[in-house]
Amino acid sequence: MDVREAIEQRYSVRGYKPDLVEDEKLQQILEAAQLAPTCVNLQAFRILVIPTAGRQEQLKQIYKPEWFVEAPLLLGICIVKEKGWVRRDGRYYGDVDAAIVMDHIILTATSLGLGTCWVAAFKLDVAKAVLELDDTLDLIAFTPIGYARTLPPERTRKPLTELVIYK
Ligand SMILES: Cc1cc2nc3c(=O)[nH]c(=O)nc-3n(C[C@H](O)[C@H](O)[C@H](O)COP(=O)(O)O)c2cc1C
Repeated sequence: MDVREAIEQRYSVRGYKPDLVEDEKLQQILEAAQLAPTCVNLQAFRILVIPTAGRQEQLKQIYKPEWFVEAPLLLGICIVKEKGWVRRDGRYYGDVDAAIVMDHIILTATSLGLGTCWVAAFKLDVAKAVLELDDTLDLIAFTPIGYARTLPPERTRKPLTELVIYK
């Protein structure tokens, strides 16, 4: 599957089969994350690989919807605190690096037939406690990784005429 096809096929999957994710596929996903561009090549991100088996009730405290823990794996994207690049005018770019890493993960997972969903609306304090994270990591987002049991919803997007500004 080429990038264009992966972009077209990706959608936020909010329902997963319990089927395991093959180790080789997880490895490909992690290697795609490793290749993500980062500001000044700082690579200040860290990826939490979190198997859900046997700990769904605990992990669900982080984000309540049932589908959050249906897939066999959750990935958490973090930036090492104070290691993300800051522009001279003070603009912080660590979150941008994290988003690019997540996009590499999500598009690669899609190309391998796997479903994902960005999750930013989680409880940070609970996540830090459950995952025993210390204060050196800034947890940005999660995604489940697994096989979808739901179909894509209808896509709603603004027209390019609204989204693009030619100057
Ligand atoms: C930064 C970010 C955070 C998001 N957080 C959540 C979330 O917490 N829960 C959720 O169900 N979807 C979340 N989403 C998914 C969006 O709702 C979804 O991408 C959007 O509605 C478009 O739908 P699509 O992904 O199926 O194309 C998030 C997406 C992004 C980019």
